[in-house]
Amino acid sequence: MTHIRKAVFPVAGMGTRFLPATKSIPKEMLPLVDRPLIQYAVDEARAAGIEEFIFVTAAGKGALEDYFDTAAALEHSLQAKGKAEALATLERTRMPEGALSFVRQNKALGLGHAIRVAQHLVGNEPFAVLLPDDVIRGQAGALGQMVAAHAKTGGHMVATMDVPRAMTAQYGVLDVAREDGPLAYARGLVEKPRADIAPSTLAIIGRYILEPSIFAKLAHLGPGAGGELQLTDAINAEVDTAGVTGYRFDGERFDCGSVQGFVQATAAFALDRPDLQQGFSQFLDQRRAPLHQAA
Ligand code: G1P
Repeated sequence: MTHIRKAVFPVAGMGTRFLPATKSIPKEMLPLVDRPLIQYAVDEARAAGIEEFIFVTAAGKGALEDYFDTAAALEHSLQAKGKAEALATLERTRMPEGALSFVRQNKALGLGHAIRVAQHLVGNEPFAVLLPDDVIRGQAGALGQMVAAHAKTGGHMVATMDVPRAMTAQYGVLDVAREDGPLAYARGLVEKPRADIAPSTLAIIGRYILEPSIFAKLAHLGPGAGGELQLTDAINAEVDTAGVTGYRFDGERFDCGSVQGFVQATAAFALDRPDLQQGFSQFLDQRRAPLHQAA
C-alpha cells in the first residue's frame, strides 16, 4: 500500500465570479463563516494523512501565502493580552515546518497545465489533487475515503457524484464500464460534454488521486474543452494503462466556485456551528415566515 503524502492545490484562478471582492484578495481567502475557503481543503487533506502541500499560484495570491505564515506580531500581542482562545484558533491553522511549497503557473492554460507545473515538487509517487472550490461537508473527509479505497484499487481515482443531465457541460463526466459499491470503473472520461452526448451523469468532483504516470500524458496534451489543457483528457488517456476509478464519496458537496453555492455552503456550515446554530436558524425561520405566508 502506497502512502499518499503529497497534495496539489491549484489556486491560480482569477475568481472573476466573485468580483469585486476578488479585485484585491484571492478567491481562496473568502471566508466560509470564519475560515477561508482554502482552510477547508487543507483540513480535509491533513485528515487524509497528507504531509506535503503544494500550491499552484499566480500573481496576486500573496495573501494566500501570508495566511499560512506565522503571524508573529499578532501572536505576541494576543499573548500579552492573554487571549488564549484566539491563540488556539491560530494554532489550529499552523502547518508543520517545511510542509508547504508554492509554484507559479505563469500562464492560465487550464487545470492540466496547473498540475503539470507541480511535477518537480510531486516527483515519482502517487499524489492527491484538491480543487478548493469544491467544498465537501461530511463526517469523514472525502479525500480520506478515497485514500482508503485507492489502497485497494491503485491507478487513478476521481471523486464522483451524480448531477442532473442538464448540467453535464459543467463537469468532467465518466463513461462507466462497471460499478461495484462506491466504485465506478471508467472506460473513458469526457470534459464538459453537452447533455445530449454525455456518456453518463456521473460527474468528476474536485478530488483526485493520481499516479505519477499522469505527467507523461500532461506533457503531450493538446488543448481540449474551452481551448484549455484539461486534466480530464490526460486521465482519459490512461484508462487502458493505469486504470481509472470513480469514487462516489459520502458527503455533501458545495460548488463554492459559484456565488449561489458559496452562500449555501455558508448557511450549511453556520448551521453546523454550536455557537451560531440557534441564533442563525431562528433568523432564517423569521425571514422565511413571510415567504410562506405569501405562497
Ligand atoms: C474542473 C474539472 C472538471 C470537474 C470540475 C469539478 O472544472 O475540469 O472535470 O468536473 O472541476 O468541480 P472547472 O470547474 O474548473 O471548470
